[in-house]
This record gives sequence, structure tokens and C-alpha cells, in this order.
Amino acid sequence: MAKLLNLSAFMLVTLIFMFQPQPGYSQEQPEIVCIQCHSGMPEKYSQPVKLWRGSIHAENGIACNACHGGDPKDAANAMSRERGFLGVPKDPDIPAFCGRCHVGVMKDYLASAHGRALGKGGPTCVTCHGNHQVLKASLELINEKSCSRCHSYDRARSIRDAMQETETMIVATEARIIDFKKVGSDTEKLEKELFALRNHFHSLFHNVNVETVKKESSQIQTELKKIQSVLATWDQTNQKRKIAGAIAISVMLLIALFAHLLRKTFE
Ligand code: HEC
Ligand code: HEC
Ligand code: HEC
Ligand code: HEC
Ligand code: HEC
Repeated sequence: MAKLLNLSAFMLVTLIFMFQPQPGYSQEQPEIVCIQCHSGMPEKYSQPVKLWRGSIHAENGIACNACHGGDPKDAANAMSRERGFLGVPKDPDIPAFCGRCHVGVMKDYLASAHGRALGKGGPTCVTCHGNHQVLKASLELINEKSCSRCHSYDRARSIRDAMQETETMIVATEARIIDFKKVGSDTEKLEKELFALRNHFHSLFHNVNVETVKKESSQIQTELKKIQSVLATWDQTNQKRKIAGAIAISVMLLIALFAHLLRKTFE
């Protein structure tokens, strides 16, 4: 239930953003003043623009002011507190800064060993995702270089292995469903089930507890196996249909041959 509420809160925020005119990302609109001014500044202040351009946020119209606040249309007052400018968050404030939009992730993170170590040497969102060049998340983020900065890589490796196995199953199951869809099977129900499982799967990481991740990962695998067994029965039905079809064609050919021979005999 709590997860559902988080999800709906996140969707609400996303919806609000979708329906707000978002300056800066549309090709026809002029660039927002934040980018115009910062692009021409020294490295420290222009670097964020360069890094942000390649990010998933830029791709989705989440510009400077969506994170930092401020007025993206009025160069003279862009960075005034009265226009909602938030400035640069300090380390312990980063989870709440990103969590305005990523509500569910923030909640999982705050409850985790990493969240509990916030301000006491634990990683924040930007330790793993970066601040401006945030890319689409993947298990590649769990690697020895990044995860052995503060502790050994052992527990991180266990999490990555468990998740990698599940991810491989998800990808394979999806490919099979698509194959069936292409030949006209009604895959809607299975697609929905897979979608829910995938969402659940992608919310596993931030609690970073090896036991929890392993347990939930194996529950997801059990559900995936159920989908795969439905697909296996579809395969069998198809096989039977193919055999029946082949028999029908052979019978028809035989009849045709027989008729031909008969006609020949009477000529
Ligand atoms: C007319 C030029 C100009 C515009 C427009 C502008 N900035 Fe800045 N920005 C600056 C300058 C100069 C600095 C460095 C000095 C300072 O902090 O005031 C700066 C600093 C910053 C900082 C770092 C502040 C700190 O405390 O270190 C952030 C974050 C920032 N700008 C974001 C924005 C955002 C978001 C917008 C648009 C809503 C924006 N800027 C629009 C010129 C501009
Ligand atoms: C996804 C949210 C997000 C977006 C979008 C974003 N920033 Fe930032 N920005 C941050 C965070 C978080 C920090 C603090 C970084 C840290 O502590 O590592 C920061 C820091 C900064 C700083 C201070 C850098 C320094 O070295 O002190 C500047 C300047 C800045 N941002 C400008 C911008 C500009 C200009 C844009 C638009 C092109 C932008 N930001 C877009 C999240 C964002
Ligand atoms: C104003 C809302 C907003 C803020 C603030 C924000 N994001 Fe995002 N973020 C989005 C949207 C919208 C997307 C693209 C849709 C999606 O994938 O969820 C996104 C995507 C992402 C993704 C990729 C998700 C995926 O599906 O792979 C990551 C990672 C991410 N953000 C991290 C951060 C971090 C770290 C911060 C803080 C520095 C931050 N975000 C701040 C709105 C926001
Ligand atoms: C210790 C590293 C780490 C920290 C800290 C961290 N993340 Fe992540 N994040 C990851 C990894 C790894 C994934 C990829 C998980 C996957 O592929 O399922 C991820 C995935 C995501 C996603 C995509 C989730 C989805 O449903 O597809 C978002 C959004 C995100 N993180 C935002 C955040 C925010 C916001 C914070 C801070 C509150 C944060 N992360 C803190 C490592 C981290
Ligand atoms: C900036 C430092 C830092 C980084 C980087 C970091 N961690 Fe941690 N991690 C901590 C701290 C602090 C703790 C809590 C103390 C402990 O258990 O070692 C912790 C605990 C953990 C735990 C134990 C959780 C539990 O509930 O027992 C796991 C698993 C973990 N981290 C995985 C990762 C992974 C995976 C990455 C890389 C994506 C990562 N960490 C990167 C600081 C960090």
C-alpha cells in the first residue's frame, strides 16, 4: 500500500510536470536564461550545462530550474530567492533535493544502511548517479570501482549477481512475449504481469540489503517462471497446430493425387 501511494505520488508529480509548459527542451523555444548565461561562464559554472545536455533529465525536459529552482525566463532575477531559487544543496540535503520527484526511491534509500549513514560517510544520490550527467540507471552502476570506495565489494557483488540473474530472465521473457505478439497471440495479460514484475524489480536496489534483495529477487524469479510456463504451453499448442496442419495438407495432396490418377485411368 505504501509503495502504491509512493508510486501515485511520483506519478502525480510527473503528471504535473508533463502538463506544465517546460521551457528549454523544445527545439522551437529559445533556451532558458540559466543555460544562456551559464554557457558563457568559466568552467566551474558552464561545466554543469555541458554535462546536463547528455543526461536523461535533459531528454525528459527536466532543466536547471526544475532542480535548482529560480526563474528560467527572467535573466535579471533568475537566481533570486523570491523566485524560488534553491541554490546548491549540501550533501545531507541531496536526497530530499532529488526525492521531490523520486519519492519512492528516496524512501527506500532513507530506510537503508546508506540512508542511515547520510552525513556520516554514506553515499548520496549523486555519489552513484552523478549530479548533472545522470544517465538511465542500470546494474552497471554496481561495480568494484564505485562500490569499494567505502567498504569491501563482497556484499555489492552478491546484490549484483542476484539482480543480474533476474534481469537476464526478465529480458528473455520479454523477448519471447514479443515473438508471440508478432504472430498475433493475445499477450496483453502477460505483458501487464511482466510490467509489474519489472517495476518491482527496479525498486529493489536502494535498500541495499543483501538478504532482502536476494529474497525478493527469488520471489520475482518464481513469478517469471509462471509466465514462462504459460509461454511453454503456448509453444506446445502451436506445435500441435503445426502437426495437425501438416497432416491436413498431406491428406489433401493425397486426394488430389488420387483424383488425378483416376482421371488418367478414365481418359
Ligand atoms: C545573467 C547570468 C545568470 C543567469 C541568467 C543565471 N545564472 Fe546561475 N550563476 C551566475 C553567476 C555569475 C554565478 C556565480 C556567482 C553566484 O553564485 O552568484 C551563478 C551561480 C549559480 C549556481 C551556483 C550557486 C552557488 O551557490 O554556488 C547555481 C546552482 C546556478 N547559478 C543556477 C542557475 C539557475 C537554475 C538559473 C536559471 C533559473 C541561473 N543560474 C541563471 C549567473 C547566472
Ligand atoms: C537533476 C538535478 C539537477 C539539474 C537538472 C541541474 N543541477 Fe546543478 N546541481 C545539482 C546538484 C545535486 C548539485 C550539487 C552537486 C554536488 O554536491 O555534487 C548541483 C550543483 C550545481 C552548481 C555548483 C557547482 C559547483 O561546483 O559548485 C552549479 C553552478 C549548477 N549546479 C548549475 C546548474 C545548471 C546551469 C543547470 C542547467 C544546465 C543545472 N545545474 C541542472 C543538481 C542539478
Ligand atoms: C523535477 C523532478 C526531478 C528531479 C528534482 C530529479 N529528477 Fe531524476 N528524473 C526525473 C524524470 C522526469 C526522469 C525521467 C523519467 C524517469 O525515468 O523516471 C528522471 C530520471 C532519472 C533517472 C533515470 C531513471 C531510469 O529510469 O533509469 C535517475 C537515475 C535520476 N533521475 C536520478 C536523479 C537524481 C540523482 C536527482 C538529484 C540530483 C534527480 N534525479 C532529480 C525527474 C526529476
Ligand atoms: C549506492 C549507489 C546508489 C545510491 C546512493 C542511489 N542510487 Fe539510485 N540506483 C542505483 C543503482 C545501482 C540503480 C539501478 C537498479 C536497477 O537497475 O534496478 C539505481 C536506480 C535508480 C533509479 C531508477 C529506478 C527505476 O525504477 O528504474 C532512480 C530514479 C534512482 N536510482 C534515483 C536515485 C535517487 C533519487 C537517489 C537518492 C535518494 C539514489 N538513486 C541513490 C544506485 C544508487
Ligand atoms: C560513500 C561511501 C559508500 C559508497 C560509495 C558505497 N557505500 Fe555501501 N555502505 C556505506 C556505509 C557507510 C554503509 C553502512 C556501514 C556498513 O555496513 O559497512 C554501507 C553499507 C552497505 C551494504 C550493507 C547494507 C546492509 O543492510 O547490511 C551494502 C550491501 C552496500 N553498502 C552496498 C553498496 C553498493 C552496491 C555500492 C555501490 C553501488 C556501495 N555500497 C557504495 C558507504 C558506501
